[in-house]
Amino acid sequence: MKDIITLAIESSCDETSIAVLKNGREVLSNIVSTQIELHKKFGGVVPEVASRKHIENIDLVLSEALTKADIKLEEIDHIAVTYGPGLVGALLVGLSYAKGLAFTLNKPIVGVNHIEGHICANYIEHKDLKPPFMTLVVSGGHTHLVEVKDYNTYEIIGRTKDDASGEAFDKIARAMNLGYPGGPIVDKLAKKGNKNAINFPKALIDEGYDFSFSGLKSAVLNYLNAKKMKNEEIIVEDVCASFQEAVVEVLATKAIKATKEKGYNTLTLAGGVACNSYLREKITKLSKENNIDIKYPNPNLCTDNAAMIGCCGYYEFINKNTHDMSLNAVPNLKIGQR
Ligand code: KG4
Ligand code: ZN
Repeated sequence: MKDIITLAIESSCDETSIAVLKNGREVLSNIVSTQIELHKKFGGVVPEVASRKHIENIDLVLSEALTKADIKLEEIDHIAVTYGPGLVGALLVGLSYAKGLAFTLNKPIVGVNHIEGHICANYIEHKDLKPPFMTLVVSGGHTHLVEVKDYNTYEIIGRTKDDASGEAFDKIARAMNLGYPGGPIVDKLAKKGNKNAINFPKALIDEGYDFSFSGLKSAVLNYLNAKKMKNEEIIVEDVCASFQEAVVEVLATKAIKATKEKGYNTLTLAGGVACNSYLREKITKLSKENNIDIKYPNPNLCTDNAAMIGCCGYYEFINKNTHDMSLNAVPNLKIGQR
């Protein structure tokens, strides 16, 4: 059978990324141009700045991706592009670029859901992974428990009622002036702290599959304010470790419970927070105790990248789920919606 070459484009937030894949799971190139340095001074992503930077970067990212893959544009079979969820201006840069390429090359275009892309990063990392399985999606904007019933067939069984887990990491880091994005910094500082120093709330831990992290965030902010008012020393490492303990305990407990109760043998992690070293450690330990096969992607495939979008787009393409030129950006696109 002829190889299928996918060109994938991702620009939903602050990473401009283009990848080339062979047969969906083999990454020939995956170029990621991150804008983190640019947004750092604002303490978070500034949407308008992100869109402008995507426009500046995208040509160069494409030529690097093609050169590294040693592929010419004419050799591509289809284009996969993130069309939601994300920042509308940022999404439109990648989407318009993809449409322009699809039109000039006369190739099909497949719109990809960014969160479904995060889940598909596991197919790239684990070549033998096949649905069905359970997945815990933990990113800057989403926290979901999702049953992956088939390639690109999903059912959400749990979600956050308020903040996403990554958002909680970013917000408490900001409150302590630790920098942006907060997740990796909190992860690092927590290693030197005592996770039992402060007893932060573990919301909804024994109730269903939904999550809630805004109460935990407020508890951390209240703790910091109370300490400041009393002029007492704040041990940042202990705050990070105790906060992380509360988040990870809830995430890991619910993910394992859902996997067992829904009768799956495999659990995967997806999204930026899946880089968290304590989450990986804890969920691996619990999985072993419960005879669950736990899988997660390499950190560079957990955070935003176009390879994961290409893999997801490939499965849509082989199922003949392509879009036409009327495809528009959908900032609040839901999992499973097309
Ligand atoms: O998936 P992602 O790259 O972008 C979204 O689609 O949102 O996730 C970014 C999120 C940020 O909130 C960041 O702080 C978090 O992932 N993150 C981490 C770690 N690395 C990235 N959170 C906790 N621990 C980490 N090591
Ligand atoms: Zn993402």
